[in-house]
Amino acid sequence: MNKFIRKSWAEPYKIKMVELLKMTTPVQRKKALHEAGFNTFLLRSEDVYIDLLTDSGTSAMSDHQWSGIMMGDEAYAGSRNFYHLEEVVRNIYGYKYLVPTHQGRGAENILSKVLIKKGDIIPGNMYFTTTRLHQELAGGKFEDIIVDEAHDPENEFPFKGNVDLDKLERIVKKYGAKRIPYVSIATSVNMAGGQPISIKNLKVLRAFTQKHGIRIIHDMTRVAENAHFIQQREKGYHDKSIRQIVKEICSLTDGATMSAKKDALVNIGGFLAVNDWDVFEEARNLVVVYEGLHTYGGLAGRDMEAMAIGIMESISDNHIHARVGQVIYLGEKMISYGVPIVKPIGGHGIFVNAKKFLPHVPQDQFPAQTLAAEVYLDSGVRTMERGVVSAGRKPGGENYYPRLELVRFTIPRRVYTQAHMDVIAESTARVFERRTHIKGLKMVYEPKYLRFFQARFEKL
Ligand code: F0G
Repeated sequence: MNKFIRKSWAEPYKIKMVELLKMTTPVQRKKALHEAGFNTFLLRSEDVYIDLLTDSGTSAMSDHQWSGIMMGDEAYAGSRNFYHLEEVVRNIYGYKYLVPTHQGRGAENILSKVLIKKGDIIPGNMYFTTTRLHQELAGGKFEDIIVDEAHDPENEFPFKGNVDLDKLERIVKKYGAKRIPYVSIATSVNMAGGQPISIKNLKVLRAFTQKHGIRIIHDMTRVAENAHFIQQREKGYHDKSIRQIVKEICSLTDGATMSAKKDALVNIGGFLAVNDWDVFEEARNLVVVYEGLHTYGGLAGRDMEAMAIGIMESISDNHIHARVGQVIYLGEKMISYGVPIVKPIGGHGIFVNAKKFLPHVPQDQFPAQTLAAEVYLDSGVRTMERGVVSAGRKPGGENYYPRLELVRFTIPRRVYTQAHMDVIAESTARVFERRTHIKGLKMVYEPKYLRFFQARFEKL
């Protein structure tokens, strides 16, 4: 048992304010789903009972964060909240220079524009939708270097976010280090199911990339959750605090993009943080074009204050223990009902294996999209497709066919109770019981970019 935490995952907070939810009938949900073109992104949140679409921007802020909101300094330039945020980022993560952005993809856009040239290759531990798109829009090409275990939902390898160094070495040999501006490393790999990378793997990667003069850029959106798994599973880290582990992870990288809407417990915000002055200078210049002045980057002063306080709360051992504990509670309940999920259970949600859940629905009939629609219909629980629709098309136009065809049940932080988790698991189990009667979908509208957000479907 780690000295920082107790056995139960019970919450280290109590509830001060609640938001009432609308309960819907099956008839209402059927109508809502048709109007939304079977895409859970197009549902109105009013028609949703338990919203597991994402953990992004959906967390409950603390009373400290709300009081920070009142301390917003809304000066156009040089807001004190910016300097507070800068100090927290330096102290907690250790990165030297900070460029605030409105959210994660704002940072990805600027980073990609600063570092990527046409024809460059960006190896990474599995793609993320917005991250890869910004790499491609800047003229680069993403290459997946995650370990094979990550593509297998049943494989219980404890660090499915690890990089396969042989894959990276082959890419460096093939293209040459000069065409690789950086290796893109996510902590808690989202598309793999919230799977962690180990410190050991990061250290080996660091040694290899240093030898070749290649930077490591860290997608640190869920770094504290990754640190939790290192604390639980990696030799030598059992008695280290989340704060210490987070700092060590960041120290093995050269810069980071952050969507603060996840780990950092705010409804909006993000940043780019780097150690290299030249990269910072160019990013600080570009942020003025795309986001706003470099001391607010598209955010209000109050948003930066809430973020600074949220970062401090996010690295508390008790907070992370309860956060991930709740996710694991739901996952174990799903397993007890026989629902096929990605294992090990990840940090920010349960990923149901739609290929195994609906084996009679071929991938071009969108099994994960279908399953997300069915769960909504059953109980008003809203989840998200993470399969062939999310994967989108290659720059040439063909579909990506990812091996993982998943439905993500993403848990917002500090929002739902244990009884809500029971409702979610029971609803999924009910859909599982009638799975053989469920038919797939056909896509009837496809937007050009990030199609999963706005695509529409009809029942086959
Ligand atoms: N990187 C990761 C790993 C993410 O999960 C996200 C967002 C981003 C970058 C982009 O950040 O949304 O602030 O612009 N993920 C959300 C999700 C959308 O639901 O997983 P953003």
